[in-house]
Amino acid sequence: MHAVGIVAAAGSGLRPGAELPKALVLLGGRPLVCWAVESLRAGGVAEVVVAVPAPQRPAFTAVLPDDVHVVVGGDTRTASVRAALAAAREHAGDPGPTAVLVHDAARPLTPPNVVARVLAALAAGALAVVPVLPVVDTTVVVDDDGVVIADVPRASLRRVQTPQGFDRATLVAAYGRVHGTAAEFTDDASVVRAAGVPVHTVAGDERAAKITVASDLLAAEREVAS
Ligand code: C5P
Repeated sequence: MHAVGIVAAAGSGLRPGAELPKALVLLGGRPLVCWAVESLRAGGVAEVVVAVPAPQRPAFTAVLPDDVHVVVGGDTRTASVRAALAAAREHAGDPGPTAVLVHDAARPLTPPNVVARVLAALAAGALAVVPVLPVVDTTVVVDDDGVVIADVPRASLRRVQTPQGFDRATLVAAYGRVHGTAAEFTDDASVVRAAGVPVHTVAGDERAAKITVASDLLAAEREVAS
């Protein structure tokens, strides 16, 4: 299967006000974005497009392999992925990729076999597939004062990770549908679900956890060192 990888790396820093974009923060001496690209490649995706913040484009180009295509992202993750999708289409040879895997730069330690599971589900005919993990904690709903108002049965809940895989035409069409709407999407599976496309799941991996706060980075450093 010919798949193109998109890495969303155009977010801001790890701490509020940080100058360095999170994707350029070093883990084991390498920027997070390089780890994410390497995971995709090791899992079977050769061609990769990375969406980066405009001011730091030269810094990203300097650290990424020469054969990675770098594009300027947008103000939201959705805008960044949209820009990378357009670039993937322009730069694709004929007949071009039939599948797209969209990955967060902030998930540097994603094992290649997660990528391989997503590719296998697409090859088996899924139009959209996400890696997921079960929710193991008791999960509740709180009101504005933080008081618990409901328990949520957790058996059918899942935490969604990346890379998320799509039939390319399906993803392009879904992004076309939401263009110009005010709807906010935190991932790509919600964009295709908004278009009525069923989203399948495969097993995720705790090591694909997203680095959101400084302590996540410390945990990843420990993992790399072990
Ligand atoms: O902010 P958050 O951690 O949810 O972002 C998930 C991923 O989306 C990160 O890898 C980040 O760089 C990327 N992103 C992006 N463009 C934005 C915002 C986030 O590519 N405008």
